[in-house]
Amino acid sequence: MLLVIDSANTENIKKLIEFFPIDGVTTNPTIITKENKPFLPLIKEIRSIIGEEKMFFVQVLQEKAEEMVEEALYLKKEIGGNMYVKIPVTVEGIKAIKQLKEQNIKTLATTIYTPMQAFVAAKAGADFVAPYVNRIDNLSGNGVQVVKEIVHIFEQHQLPCRVLAASFKNTQQVHQVCLEGAHGVTAGPDVIESLLSHPSTESNVKQFIHDWKLSYGETSDSLLNTH
Ligand code: G3P
Repeated sequence: MLLVIDSANTENIKKLIEFFPIDGVTTNPTIITKENKPFLPLIKEIRSIIGEEKMFFVQVLQEKAEEMVEEALYLKKEIGGNMYVKIPVTVEGIKAIKQLKEQNIKTLATTIYTPMQAFVAAKAGADFVAPYVNRIDNLSGNGVQVVKEIVHIFEQHQLPCRVLAASFKNTQQVHQVCLEGAHGVTAGPDVIESLLSHPSTESNVKQFIHDWKLSYGETSDSLLNTH
């Protein structure tokens, strides 16, 4: 199961890549604008931080299929490496996904709100679909249920498309889509960090060190110094 960072903040990406088992980075136009930096140098910098092998998902901005395809080819040439072009599931987007499939360009169908959007995108040849869990929840829908149904449809009909669940505001949503068989999650740095943090873990570690120092003294702070 994939763990992907949904951010274009280079400091956060560097930090998370160092400590967490990260498979790649997703961005979207809104995420990019938050960094206040020129687009192309920013995405090239992200590519150099994560290396050529990790997955990098970058979204097109055009609305017409032909222009989306042109933009996708440009992004692929400029960014290189293990790259996926994010295409929104509009009618034009589906046409672009079909054309990109023929040209062997990998795609992720984004802004997914319903299982049927995911079904059409998978049939068109998308490698991934990204259902927006928290945004669905905010519309009084059930984001986890949408993920569950997409996973079921892909398995039932052997569609070779994976579900990269997106748009999370808390660990509970991530936990639930893990249980429902999502193939991966992409989440902001704050949510990824919160997957690991627990006050009991922190206090247990402090207690271990405290107990150790009571027996072996302040200076013997490593097992290597106690022979
Ligand atoms: O990758 C999709 C994502 O960026 C949408 O997330 O948190 O803006 O709902 P959010």
